[in-house]
Amino acid sequence: MYEEVERLIDASLAARLNAYCPYSKFQVGAALLTKDGSTITGCNVENISYGLTVCAERTAVCRAVAEGQRKFRAIAITAEMGNRFVGPCGACRQTLVEFGLDWEVYLATPDKRYMKTTVAKLIPDSFSPEWVTLGERQEG
Ligand code: THU
Repeated sequence: MYEEVERLIDASLAARLNAYCPYSKFQVGAALLTKDGSTITGCNVENISYGLTVCAERTAVCRAVAEGQRKFRAIAITAEMGNRFVGPCGACRQTLVEFGLDWEVYLATPDKRYMKTTVAKLIPDSFSPEWVTLGERQEG
């Protein structure tokens, strides 16, 4: 698994170089590891209409789903902010929850240090698809 994590971080680093971020100049890369072992990457894509910006994590998730992948084992996210590990924004956390709580998140830096966490830890007491199923069960 260690080598797999390193490879995933490398993929997120490479994707980060493609970030389109002329406004913030803040490059972010993401790489998803699917249950069948493939890697799907994303970077942030900004827009002059700032609110239309898409984060790296959501770019990766949308690419994955478009390729027929919905089962994930891990995501690596790379950004640079001094010594700190940069966590995903709230919208991205919610997007990750859509595809499960029990999978790994690696917050990485360009010099390849990383911190391991999980989707569940990043968004405690989340609103997840299970809640919708629960609602249906109660009505019926
Ligand atoms: N950004 C991401 O790509 N992922 C996050 O989780 C946080 C923020 C991007 C969006 C924008 O292009 C830049 O970082 C500054 O907010």
